Formats: sequence, structure tokens, C-alpha cells
Amino acid sequence: MKLAELNRIPDLDVSPLGALSGNWQQQHVRVDYSFPVVFTRHAFDIANPDFRAVLTVREPQRRHRIAIFLDAGVAQAMPGLLEQILAYIRFHAQAIELVGDIVVMPGGEACKNDAHVVANLLEALSERAIDRHSYSVAIGGGALLDAVGYASAIFHRGVRHIRFPTTVLAQDDSGVGVKNAVNWQGQKNLIGTFAPPWAVINDACFVEILPNREKRAGLAEAVKVALIRDHAFFLMMEKQVHALAAFDSDVMHAVIARSASLHMHQIAHGGDPFESGSARPLDYGHWVAHKLERLTAHALSHGEAVAIGLALDARYSCLAGLLPAGEDVRIHRLLSQLGFDLWHNQLLASNEQGELLVLQGLREFREHLGGELTITLLAAIGSGVEVHEMDAAMINAAICWLQQQRDQVQENPHGGQQQEVACR
Ligand SMILES: NC(=O)c1ccc[n+]([C@@H]2O[C@H](COP(=O)([O-])OP(=O)(O)OC[C@H]3O[C@@H](n4cnc5c(N)ncnc54)[C@H](O)[C@@H]3O)[C@@H](O)[C@H]2O)c1
Ligand SMILES: [Zn+2]
Repeated sequence: MKLAELNRIPDLDVSPLGALSGNWQQQHVRVDYSFPVVFTRHAFDIANPDFRAVLTVREPQRRHRIAIFLDAGVAQAMPGLLEQILAYIRFHAQAIELVGDIVVMPGGEACKNDAHVVANLLEALSERAIDRHSYSVAIGGGALLDAVGYASAIFHRGVRHIRFPTTVLAQDDSGVGVKNAVNWQGQKNLIGTFAPPWAVINDACFVEILPNREKRAGLAEAVKVALIRDHAFFLMMEKQVHALAAFDSDVMHAVIARSASLHMHQIAHGGDPFESGSARPLDYGHWVAHKLERLTAHALSHGEAVAIGLALDARYSCLAGLLPAGEDVRIHRLLSQLGFDLWHNQLLASNEQGELLVLQGLREFREHLGGELTITLLAAIGSGVEVHEMDAAMINAAICWLQQQRDQVQENPHGGQQQEVACR
């Protein structure tokens, strides 16, 4: 068939590919994904219908085969959980069949670093004969969800996968998204897929047993998404900052739910769910964060590094004339009041040529995304803006400002309002 003839077929979208030699056809495949994100409590109480409902939504009459992978950190923090899950499955035996034992495995970054973990997961799925009509269920933090999600996405080219995120970060950000990954040869998230889950169940009880440090870390992602998308949400967090800093349950869950829905909205309506382009609005503040995580050998958790990145890029946005003066101070204040330490000496680490190591983070960020450097900064609180270059001198000045803010807090730890300090 000639190109001219193809052009006459109405359903066939012939994109402007330029000069192609010979005959060609344009294939066009559309796939819709739709999955529920459920907010609940006590998901494994036998009276709670949610888990059974998401398992049986497609074939209500069938008995559904499931494999379960449970984060050992969660099992340890919630000693009765394993028995509770088993009791739930026994009670709902008409609808649910657990295949094999529940696999309790170490969570945290270690499960993404260890090359054997994916092989072990694939083996567990294979032993249980999980097929494309049965389910792999992951209960854990973002790292375990990433590893189990990846294995589930490549096993049989993808089996149904249900996530129970158990940290604030996983419930308000990573667990409601469409990505998974493991680390490879020291590189973070080098191997992974885009694979929307079958369902996500955010059980508030998991968050309530988290150590405070973990609770706080996940709030950085909520502040991030408020900064780029939702001014009212930022105001709400400012208003509720003391309750939030004390991890008041109701406020925490309201913040998690709002953050999750903003993340979901961005993925569904941002125009690039599988990240083919260069822009990553949800990665505001992350170019610094990723570098700092590595420079501190993960002494700073992802959320803690993100909090520093948010403050740094807010200051940079002001210096670049994008964000009105003073808004950086507000952002810094909210994050500080939430209990984040917005300084780390690694921000000043430099190489032999005297170049700040965090600046390498910009290059690495571009390499990771591919294409043109695209960084999201702020045009207002609640409104992100993309730029394609960042100025080293202004980054230096923003880092210097963060240091001055820290010095001021140390000199005057209970000292009410922060003042803006002129940078050296
Ligand atoms: N796929 C994505 O889109 C995406 C997005 C952002 C982050 N991530 C990934 O998420 C990971 C970070 O996830 P995280 O912040 O949830 O931490 P995490 O998964 O590393 O867990 C931290 C620790 O908390 C424990 N834990 C988990 N839930 C617990 C609970 N309820 N009570 C007590 N302990 C609990 C874990 O066992 C682990 O030791 C990183 O690997 C990051 O790359 C993925
Ligand atoms: Zn993040």
C-alpha cells in the first residue's frame, strides 16, 4: 500500500514522519487503564469488604488465587498482622485462595539493591503458578512495592497486582502511581516498567504505626505536590502545621488523601503518564534530592532529601525572578515547622575543580530523563513552571541562603518568624 492510500484510511493516523522511503503503515494502539485507590482502615478485618471487592470485581463468582508478599518491617511493627491476613482469607475462602505461604521479605532500599530479590520473587510467583488471571499482592513500603511490582509486571508479561502501601510516602505518592523499579549496578531505578496496578488499598492503620521520622519524610511529597499544583492545599497545611507536625491522625490522613489525588490527577491528566517527554513536574526539588541521597549514602531518606530540594528550588525560583520574593521564606518555614532539617553539609561538597557536587546532580537528572534538561520550578505557590537551564551562581546563592537560614534557626531555635537574610 502506498502512503497516499494510507492517508485515505480515516482511522489510521499518519503522523508527519517526514521523508520515508518505500511503503509503510502506521500502527496505533490505545490502552486505557483504570484502577481504584481505596482509603480505608483495618483492611484485614474480616468485616472489611474492600480487599475482597477489588479481587472479585471482574469475575464475582470465581475463587481468586493470590500470592502475598509482606514487608518484614511491617510484620514486625504489627505482630498480629500475618494471622489477621490468614483469618481474612479463611473467612472469605469462597472468593479467595492463598497459594503457598505468605512471603515475608525484608523491605527498604535493600530489597531494590539485591539482584537476587527479583529472581526470588519470580521463583515464588512461578512456584505458586500465578497466571494472568491470578494476583500478586504486595504489602509494604515504597521499596518493596517497587520490587514486587517490577517482578509482577514482567512475570507472564504482567500479572494482576494489588498494592497495600504502608508508609506515608507510599500512600501519598509512589504507591498510587504507575511505575516500579529496582536498582542495578549501583544505579537507582535503572530497571523497571510502567505498569498500573489492579488496585491500591491505603489502610490508615499502617501509617499510624510508622516511626515519626518515616511519617515526616512522606509529608515532603505532599508539600511538593501542593507547591506545583494546589495553593489551597498549601494553605491548609500552613494552617494545620502544628497538628501535622504532631502527626495528628485526622490531619495526616486528610493530607495523604489530598496528596494522593493530586498525584493521581497529574498522572491521568498531565499528558504523559508513561514519561516519554522530558518534563517531570512531580519531580520538583528532586534533582537535588537524588544527588543528596547518594552523597549522604542514604543517611538522608528520600523524603528528607526532597524537603531540602523543595526549599532550595523555592529560593532559586525567587532568585530567578519566577516566584515572588518572600514565598521562599514561607515554604522554608512550613517545612521547618514540620520538623525537617533543611540543611546538610554535603550541599557544600565539591570536586577537585571546586565544582559543587550537587551540580553534577543536574547533569545526572538530565541523563536519567534523556532529552533536554527540564526542571520544574515555581511561578507561585501552587503553580509549577518548567525551565531548561539553571544558573550555577544562583544555585550557589540558594545553597548559601539555606545555610544562613539554618544558622539563624540555631542561634534562635524558638525564635518565631524567620527573617529573610541577604545572601553573601
Ligand atoms: N515507583 C514510584 O513511582 C516511586 C516514587 C517515589 C519513591 N519510590 C521509591 O520508594 C522507596 C521509598 O519508599 P518508602 O519511603 O515507603 O520507604 P521504604 O519502603 O524504604 O521503607 C522504609 C522502612 O520502613 C519499613 N516499613 C514500611 N512500612 C512500615 C510500617 N507501616 N511500620 C513500620 N515500618 C514500616 C520498611 O520495612 C523499611 O525498613 C524508594 O526506593 C523510592 O525509590 C518509588
Ligand atoms: Zn519523591
